[in-house]
Amino acid sequence: MKGVRRVAESITITDNRTGESIEIPLEDGGVSAAQFSKLLPGTWFFDPGFTATAACESAITYLDGDAGILRYRGYPIEQLAEESTFLEVAYLLLNGELPTASEYDVWEREITLHTFIHENVRKRFLEGFHYDAHPMGMLVSAVAALSTFYLDAKDIFDADARQKQVIRLIAKMPTLAAAAHRFSVGMPFVYPDNSLKFTENFLSMMWKIAEPRFEVNPVLARALDVLFILHADHEQNCSTTAMRVVGSSHSDPYSATAAAAAALYGPRHGGANEAVIRMLTEIGSLDNVEPFIESVKSGQGGRLQGFGHRVYKSYDPRATIIKRTADEVFAVTGKNPLLDIALKLEEIALSDEYFTSRKLYPNVDFYSGLIYQAMGFPLEMFPVLFAIPRTAGWLAHWQEMLDQDSKIARPRQLYIGADARDYVPMVGRPG
Ligand code: CMC
Repeated sequence: MKGVRRVAESITITDNRTGESIEIPLEDGGVSAAQFSKLLPGTWFFDPGFTATAACESAITYLDGDAGILRYRGYPIEQLAEESTFLEVAYLLLNGELPTASEYDVWEREITLHTFIHENVRKRFLEGFHYDAHPMGMLVSAVAALSTFYLDAKDIFDADARQKQVIRLIAKMPTLAAAAHRFSVGMPFVYPDNSLKFTENFLSMMWKIAEPRFEVNPVLARALDVLFILHADHEQNCSTTAMRVVGSSHSDPYSATAAAAAALYGPRHGGANEAVIRMLTEIGSLDNVEPFIESVKSGQGGRLQGFGHRVYKSYDPRATIIKRTADEVFAVTGKNPLLDIALKLEEIALSDEYFTSRKLYPNVDFYSGLIYQAMGFPLEMFPVLFAIPRTAGWLAHWQEMLDQDSKIARPRQLYIGADARDYVPMVGRPG
């Protein structure tokens, strides 16, 4: 089923210099730039940040930011978060359909059998980092390094080789993530336990100490699995765009995934939940909430982290689910003391004209950090926790792009620099 309507409507563009016109059909909510170029070759759309540019056709995720709707392959995020698991959602994103029981068994077994990383990745590579390296920096580098271990990764048009890399990447991401954390806190590496489910295994690799088998709290494992579902894809966000752009040059999926993870690292994207906790900690008490809001409005206090979104102009549906998950986690871990500050911030912002007129609502990151912190994850691990599930989404987009035989990503620019001028030897330069 195609999610977006196709209507027999069009627009007409007229070049006022020549009086020539071209009628361009509106298809799936877009107009073709190729048609536009027939009338105006050499005139470019100026769209920094791609706010009005659709760079591809995609059948993976549907997002209506005004209505607060998010669906993976047509399935509402609320239903997936309630009834599915992260691994099933990853299968859905990559294959377009929910798996049958036997397809799921094969998928889960394949992922489980590929959780180990080559000893050299850990011993020579990860352990070569400085003791205080940021785990996200380690993850980005380690994922890129994997391309040197799997030479068949370059066979991106060989279906078997491609599927193998997809499985390896999804399976090894939690192992690399946990290894980066263990190294950063000086704890020995924990090998994957293939008798555990995907999320439980990750928690075991994170927290296991000397016990023979790590006992995972089922409420916390399920909560993390739900967070993984919510973060698995989000159509053409910054990191997915990086994945598609790098992948469009036909580089291998490890290099493209490393680029996507690097894009995710920044505070405007996957680093936002870390920034939220830093902000809440800095605010410190309920009395400081109102002055902080005022400082944001006056431009002195920076942005209200975890608020606003390029696409959502109403409540982020993921934030609603996360708020519920937070209650379940806090029932086990005890309430995160920063929660009351977050709730007061939200309450004030949602009734303040500055935020309402700009349609700034809490996004997924406003509450996810509070949950991660209550579960014991250090702040530096937050973007890493985002990268683990988003790998499924990145790979789904990468596959889709390759199957569409897309062009290499290569935008144009509006040149605003100097006109042609002659080189001046250093001795002849002014000053
Ligand atoms: N706090 C205060 N003002 C804001 C905020 C904010 N969080 N976000 C946007 N604004 C204001 C901004 O100053 C501007 O005001 P004006 O029109 O007066 O200049 C207006 O709202 C529009 O902002 P923009 O920067 O043009 O919006 P954008 O679509 O380019 O930016 C954003 C989207 C997510 C980068 C931005 O809202 C932001 O920086 N939010 C805080 C960081 C954050 O929470 N990021 C996580 C995003 S969700 C997870 C993910 O997808 O990675």
